[in-house]
This record gives sequence, C-alpha cells and structure tokens, in this order.
Amino acid sequence: MSESNLVETFNVKTLEDLQERFVPKELIEVPFRAKDGRSYKATLETSTTLDDETLQTCFQLVKDGCKDMYDRSEMRWSNSKKKEEMRMKGMNFLVLRDSETTEFAGFLSMLVTVEEGEELIYCYELHITPSKHGLGLGRYLMQIFEEFGRNVGFVKLAMLTVFTENKPARDFYTKLGYQLDDCSPEPRRLRNGVVKQPTYQILSKVINENPTYENQGYERMETPGAE
Ligand SMILES: CC(C)(COP(=O)(O)OP(=O)(O)OC[C@H]1O[C@@H](n2cnc3c(N)ncnc32)[C@H](O)[C@@H]1OP(=O)(O)O)[C@@H](O)C(=O)NCCC(=O)NCCS
Repeated sequence: MSESNLVETFNVKTLEDLQERFVPKELIEVPFRAKDGRSYKATLETSTTLDDETLQTCFQLVKDGCKDMYDRSEMRWSNSKKKEEMRMKGMNFLVLRDSETTEFAGFLSMLVTVEEGEELIYCYELHITPSKHGLGLGRYLMQIFEEFGRNVGFVKLAMLTVFTENKPARDFYTKLGYQLDDCSPEPRRLRNGVVKQPTYQILSKVINENPTYENQGYERMETPGAE
C-alpha cells in the first residue's frame, strides 16, 4: 500500500482528536441495546493507546476464528505479522464491551489508507465473541466504522477482505450493502480446464458520494511523477 499526503496527515492524529472530530458521538456515547437485552458500549483506541491485554484478547479471537482459513489460503497465518499489523501506525480499534460487566464482546480494526490512488477506509478485522453472534453487534460496529469513514471527509469507499470460504461473513457483508470490488482477484482457469476460485474476496461500499478534502485542514499535494 502506498501512502498519500491526506492519509499521512490523518494517520498521525491523536486519540483525543479522533474522538473529538471523527467518532459518531450519537452512536458511541449511548450504549447499544442488543438482541439479548443487554447493553454494549464501543470505545475507540489507536494502535498506540490499546493496552497489551486487550490487544492480546483481540489477537486471540482472530487467531481462533481465522488461523485455519489463513493457512488454507496463500496468506499463511503468522503470529508476528498479525501483531505487527495490529500495531501499525494509523490502525484504530473499536473495542466492544458489555456496558455493565465490561466483559469483552468483540472488536473492529480500521485504517484510513490508499488503494490504487484512491483514499479509502479499510476494515482490517471484525470479530464478535462467538457466544454473541447474531445479536446485532457486528452491524453496530460496522455502522460506527462507516460513520467514522464519512467523517474523515476525503474517503469515498469502505473496503474489506473476506475469505471466500467464510460464507457467513460474506452473507453478513452482503446484507450490509458490500459488493465485490473491481480490484478483487478473478477466478483462474487452470490448464486442465478447472476454474479455481480465489481464496479471498475484496468487498467495498460507497459511504460518501461527495468526498472532499477542502476546508477540513487537509492539503492535497501532488505526488511527484503522478499524472
Ligand atoms: C460475521 C460477524 C462479524 C457478524 O456479526 P454478528 O454480530 O454475528 O451479526 P449481526 O447480528 O450484527 O447481523 C447483522 C445482519 O447480518 C445477518 N447475518 C449475520 N450473520 C449471518 C450469517 N451467518 N448468515 C447470514 N446472515 C447473517 C443477520 O441476519 C443480520 O441481519 P438483520 O439485522 O436483518 O437480522 C460475526 O458473526 C463474527 O464475528 N464472525 C466470526 C469472525 C468473522 O468471520 N469475521 C469477519 C471476517 S474476518
């Protein structure tokens, strides 16, 4: 992934600045009432403010849920690479907890980045604790993620990667309006005529029809050599 000036400027913002200007307060300040009748609260953290214990809990949830899918794909699971990714500059986390007991219930990680010259917001991980699936918590975190992306201002698309074999997650994202992105890998026809589906898909959704970088304290600088 290459960087853009807009993205670089955004990714050095402090937690306080992100909380003040980009987090949808109406969604995050009022606890979310889930289908089990309990209330949950999401908190924003950055890759530098997230404490080691919570990072380890998030990491373990990803590993338990997805390691086998990584290993069946060309991506191969690596503990160190995943931890490095989670501590990447600009990575932000929505950590979900039961508002009464503070018990951890899941998380979403996201990064404002650039793909093929276009600034966008990428959902790196979304994992709800298995006992809490189907309660509306995934949809709730995605709503905050998309609103956060809209508040960034210069971002048009929300994007994510999903393993092709993870049909429940693909169905979930389809329900939320995500579609196969043009940059998603194509199926390949092998020499014996068999069509091999890619092991992962890239999905996207337009979250802001009119992205703008003006009047928001950002300055777009032309990259030398760019058209
Ligand atoms: C995929 C996941 C994030 C969905 O979160 P969730 O909290 O269980 O989903 P929600 O309860 O918010 O569901 C939202 C909508 O998606 C639909 N949906 C959720 N899971 C679904 C499934 N397995 N199959 C079909 N539809 C599904 C729901 O019916 C719901 O629609 P509704 O609001 O009209 O009833 C969650 O199940 C999870 O953490 N899975 C394991 C990790 C994973 O695969 N992460 C994503 C890829 S890395």
